[in-house]
Amino acid sequence: MSRYAEFYRRSIETPEAFWAEQAELIDWKTPPRQILDTTRAPFVHWFAGGTTNLCHNAVDRHLATRGDQPALIAVSTETGTERSYSFKELHAEVQRVAASLKELGVGKGDRVLIYMPMIPEAAFTMLACARLGAIHCVVFGGFASASLASRIEDATPKVVVSADAGSRGGKVIAYKPLLDEAIRLSMHKPDAVLLFDRGLAPMDLSEGRDHLAAPLVEKHRDAQVPCTWLDATDISYTIYTSGTTGRPKGVQRDTGGYAVALAASMKHIFDGRAGETYFSTSDIGWVVGHSYIVYGPLIAGMATLMYEGLPTQGLDRQPDGGIWWQLVEKYKVTVMFSAPTAVRVLKKQDPALLKKYDLSSLRALFLAGEPLDEPTARWISEGLGVPIIDNYWQTESGWPILTVANGVETTRSKFGSPGVPMYGYKVKILHESTGEELTAPNEKGVVVIEGPTPPGFMQTVWRDDERFVDTYWKTVPGKLVYSTFDWGIRDEDGYYYILGRTDDVINVAGHRLGTREIEESISGHAKVAEVAVVGVADALKGQVAMAFVVPRDGAVLGDAQAALALEGEVMKQVADQLGALARPARVHFVGALPKTRSGKLLRRAIQAVCEGRDPGDLTTIEDPGALQQIRQTLSPQG
Ligand code: PRX
Repeated sequence: MSRYAEFYRRSIETPEAFWAEQAELIDWKTPPRQILDTTRAPFVHWFAGGTTNLCHNAVDRHLATRGDQPALIAVSTETGTERSYSFKELHAEVQRVAASLKELGVGKGDRVLIYMPMIPEAAFTMLACARLGAIHCVVFGGFASASLASRIEDATPKVVVSADAGSRGGKVIAYKPLLDEAIRLSMHKPDAVLLFDRGLAPMDLSEGRDHLAAPLVEKHRDAQVPCTWLDATDISYTIYTSGTTGRPKGVQRDTGGYAVALAASMKHIFDGRAGETYFSTSDIGWVVGHSYIVYGPLIAGMATLMYEGLPTQGLDRQPDGGIWWQLVEKYKVTVMFSAPTAVRVLKKQDPALLKKYDLSSLRALFLAGEPLDEPTARWISEGLGVPIIDNYWQTESGWPILTVANGVETTRSKFGSPGVPMYGYKVKILHESTGEELTAPNEKGVVVIEGPTPPGFMQTVWRDDERFVDTYWKTVPGKLVYSTFDWGIRDEDGYYYILGRTDDVINVAGHRLGTREIEESISGHAKVAEVAVVGVADALKGQVAMAFVVPRDGAVLGDAQAALALEGEVMKQVADQLGALARPARVHFVGALPKTRSGKLLRRAIQAVCEGRDPGDLTTIEDPGALQQIRQTLSPQG
């Protein structure tokens, strides 16, 4: 048996012994009393009775051994700033923010919503929350007021931490007006708002509620805020993600299990070593940013590089495609993490850029978030001369489900496949309707995970245990298994291939979005009667959103000018409410939408038509003409 096969077998057959060993990778104030408790399956408790703290493990623990080594390197080609913080300096910065939050009333179990750009203060704030035992809830800075409002309402934060603005490609995006509008829309109002002023956009402060961070942080310059010891099963954070309904789900994570899972993944999967530099190009607003910009690398004693800016700039802020490689050279990055879309963007540029810098420090590039196509994988693998490691996971899992664990044993990767199940994950493929396990190679089914789910996996949906069980664990009749909502196959060597989502989630440039949220935004437009939004394959972004709208005024259908104007209005509405990321690539106007006789929208059939595929079984369709109309709309003459 190969070394990894044996490692995996132990994790599945003797999970308690396996994870007790992994638990030694982190510091505990008091060791766990019980490694695994499944009495309330599918809810799982890992390391109950153990007390620890994420911030202690990410920062304080390293002070004695590597206090003066870099911990956080923050580079922005948007503002032309570059700064490195040692573990000692990071420790001080985090305590300043922790003391400021404390002064605003934040304590253990309180929610702090973070709506910030990729600036070091965002990481300080996350770590400060962890230090205090407060639950952070980071909302991606690219989301606009309606998305933010629904998250504020669900998380009910005591304090919101934000900044004056973000910047993208030199274009300043003022956050404060979006935040003010979100708070106005939300039923819940935070007690206080803490604002970091970057000097990019003016801010109107609301008396009594809004506090500028600078004077508070300065006041607490020498603050010493001890870590609050938490039970391993206490909540560390929630992060919102999209699903089948328009209402985002708060994915809730524990403390001890998460710390152990990250420490183990840094060792066995990413093979990152203390004292080295890790560079993930993601954003703190996504799960990759939580696990592999902030917590994972720091827990491993690595310096983490936070980059604000496009991949197509240079350190001198001039357009250049070399920034990432320039940073790899400058900071001797050993492990890098990105998404296939970003690589596809770079692929359009001069390949000489890859040769311009000394990339000899780099050992591997990890790519995740969306399917990695073979041409992209080959291009970057040949360009960099290091292994490209595809890894498949979800906001819900917190760390890779499928990949190769080169830290355990060097394992061959196959183009098109993220790899094999990681230790702790019992991955199966089930028949969509019968729920039968598909064991023969290359049979397509739904990818599921059998419990108990490993450490780091979501505990539940924030404040909604029932939704957690109903949404994720009850999709297969007669079986309690976790559905990933992804289609997949497994080949004869046990490698998995992911074939897209089974639900209404789409993946735009590696960003997970719910088509229902976009539909809700569009149907709020006064001139819209009905709408369907589907994800359509796109060569660069993986998928883009495409909207089909039935206008209230039928005259729009025959009037190209009116249609163009309404398309613009609809796009603007989505960008204003949800964020530019969610804006559909096109809005098409039709007289009717294809539905079943019982009135269900046939989104899958619409998607198939958009991608030039066979729409499949249409026996339940009410009006085949509606699908025909969509086909005509899409044709060049249409
Ligand atoms: O459909 C799968 C796709 O992204 C979804 C999860 O997105 P998110 O919650 O944003 O978490 C991303 C964490 C990396 C999955 O259900 N996906 C993620 N990674 C891959 C992938 N599809 C194919 N290959 C991957 N490597």
